[in-house]
Amino acid sequence: MNILVTGGAGFIGGNFIRWMRTHAPEHRIVNVDALTYAGNLESLRDIPEDDRYCFVRADIRDRAKMDALFTEYDITHVVNFAAESHVDRSIVDPEIFLTTNVVGTQALLDTAKKHWKTAPEDKYSREYRDGVKFLQVSTDEVYGALGREGKFTETTPLSPNSPYSAAKASADLICRAYAETFGLPLNITRCSNNYGPCQFPEKLIPLMIHNCMEGKPLPVYGDGMQIRDWLHVSDHCSAIHAVLTRGLAGEVYNIGGNNERANIEIVRQIVHVLGASESLITYVKDRPGHDRRYAIDNTKITTRLGWAPAYTFERGIVETIEWYRDHATWMEHVLSGEYADYYERMYAPSFTRQTSESR
Ligand code: NAD
Ligand code: TYD
Repeated sequence: MNILVTGGAGFIGGNFIRWMRTHAPEHRIVNVDALTYAGNLESLRDIPEDDRYCFVRADIRDRAKMDALFTEYDITHVVNFAAESHVDRSIVDPEIFLTTNVVGTQALLDTAKKHWKTAPEDKYSREYRDGVKFLQVSTDEVYGALGREGKFTETTPLSPNSPYSAAKASADLICRAYAETFGLPLNITRCSNNYGPCQFPEKLIPLMIHNCMEGKPLPVYGDGMQIRDWLHVSDHCSAIHAVLTRGLAGEVYNIGGNNERANIEIVRQIVHVLGASESLITYVKDRPGHDRRYAIDNTKITTRLGWAPAYTFERGIVETIEWYRDHATWMEHVLSGEYADYYERMYAPSFTRQTSESR
């Protein structure tokens, strides 16, 4: 496979590249990322650029660039992680969520269709090169919120509540349309909240770990009883690999780790593991439109693709806390904005030989 991984400098995309280098190193990965505030090449600094891996700084909305990359690297697979991913930011500034998450996805779909269709000029043809696939990384948030009972299945109606989840749902629908109308071989994965190494500290778990280590207040929204279904990022990566290699074209797969936890439980656990004081916990005004509960029914992926999560939450959260404790410099750089300079240092003109920046 020649895989275009978009958003590979982000949390999950970066972990996916690492996972692939360890578990399926025979494939070539082209990591395309615009390096927004959330993109951090420092997380991948020990991965050398060679004939199996390269980084290209580009925006998925740049159709000419995407087209050139498909040609240059003979792309056979796309795993589209690139997105604006933070609900709170989408409440403050929704527009970029639509342009990146929806229009960006559509630009990639068009590029894939053009390059993979065997008769691109024939609007009735549904024939594609053998083995190609587009995988759209979506979220369980497209299903909206649950009450106390029930879980999201792949047939739960889409009912997004935030600008972020509405944009992700819109991208899912345009993907569906490309599968139905054009026969483009694709899968959509919808996973629950991820946690693990290299997550930007605007999300619950790394934010609480960091604040706890600094002795700063831990801002819990509302009553802290909102429930998320946590998935270790490496389990998400193995699930994406399973869908990419064994998923039936046109299908949606939910990915979840069966780890429902109330936010306040998680915050207390972090406080406990780090030996901090619960007095740091500070209840703050709730997020507008805050979804009460998410929970994934993962029956389809476990029974049809034989995937299962390897992590228990108990093991995963302790390892994750240890990772952030052991990588204080990573956190410092992210927070100080130094990681933005890393790109300039790493890819300064004298180093750009292997990147498309120099082409
Ligand atoms: P992230 O914010 O950490 O990373 C997103 C990456 O995309 C960044 O590196 C950023 O620079 C890049 N990017 C943003 N706009 C771009 C553009 N226009 N062109 C190219 N690159 C661009 O996000 P994440 O947590 O790694 O999430 C990855 C994907 O998984 C997203 O699509 C998100 O919706 C989905 N998802 C995340 C979670 C979670 O818990 N983090 C859960 C479910 C689904
Ligand atoms: P977050 O990590 O932003 O993920 P998402 O909104 O995609 O689920 O938030 C996870 C949960 O934690 C969510 O219910 C909101 C809550 N939360 C807080 O209580 N305080 C915070 O400072 C943050 C960032 C999140």
